[in-house]
Amino acid sequence: MKIRRAVIPVAGKGTRFLPATKQVPKEMIPIINLPMIHYVVEEAILSGIEQVIFITSSGKNAIEDYFDRNFELEEFLMKSGKIKELEMIQEIGKMVEVTSIRQKEQLGLGHAVLCAKDIVGNEPFVVILGDEIVRGPNPVTKQLMKVSEQNNNANVIGVMEVDPMETYKYGVVKGSFIEGSTKTMRMTTMVEKPKPADAPSNLATPGRYIFRPEIFDALKVIPKGVGGEYQLTDAINLLAKESEVYAHIFEGQRFDTGNIEGYLNATVEFALMNKDSEAMMKKIIKEKIEKYNIK
Ligand code: UTP
Repeated sequence: MKIRRAVIPVAGKGTRFLPATKQVPKEMIPIINLPMIHYVVEEAILSGIEQVIFITSSGKNAIEDYFDRNFELEEFLMKSGKIKELEMIQEIGKMVEVTSIRQKEQLGLGHAVLCAKDIVGNEPFVVILGDEIVRGPNPVTKQLMKVSEQNNNANVIGVMEVDPMETYKYGVVKGSFIEGSTKTMRMTTMVEKPKPADAPSNLATPGRYIFRPEIFDALKVIPKGVGGEYQLTDAINLLAKESEVYAHIFEGQRFDTGNIEGYLNATVEFALMNKDSEAMMKKIIKEKIEKYNIK
């Protein structure tokens, strides 16, 4: 069955970006001139997704507005003869069909995904975190969809190798590689934010998942977990008892733009990757190295 829908939870409070996030949704903070969420939605579209379902909270309207048409601005740009800018704005307004659902209380990522149940219905779907960007020639969601298709439309978690000392930041998987593969494993369990000594591996997810609709049954019955929140990880563990869950080591470079270090890293790297800003950024870096005597 073709996967048509992506659930993108963006209801979190973004406390690591305060005070900016007092008024601006974290996902709207730009990396150069595109808000973080643009890169994430672009990944979904390049993977063949037809509908994006944002799980939002109060104060997050700017995200929906960004993907909507803005006729007033379009008219202004038209009258000012700014045709290039006009086309760019129109393109964004037509990128993808967007629906949003309010998560009234921020009870955790698991609860956020459960909010999408009625819209998703009885179809497989993907979950993409709105503050994690993965870049590479092959969109990561597309890579995971392929693994799902090759394995009877199974659930698939995208994972990457992380520093073993940093497992406490992630959901970490345990499993064994399927025959003939060094990238895809049958997952047996997943541990939420384990201390390095308790981590079952150093394969962790940055928030890319393919789910069959049975995940909703699991999400409905899990108790509150780590941090007093309804954890998606707990539902995945329940799902893995009854249904096949695979973990796949994806290709691509991941940027955790939900924290300041990851955000700075993405800003510098994206500027270097873009032909319009590459020379500018190299000049700035060179000047700073000299000015601050960076070795
Ligand atoms: P985070 O743990 O990054 O939380 O959530 P956050 O609130 O966005 O940021 P900090 O930690 O306070 O700085 C991971 C993802 O899950 C979503 C967030 O929007 C983010 O994309 N989320 C989390 C929800 O949608 N609802 C929740 O109840 C919790």
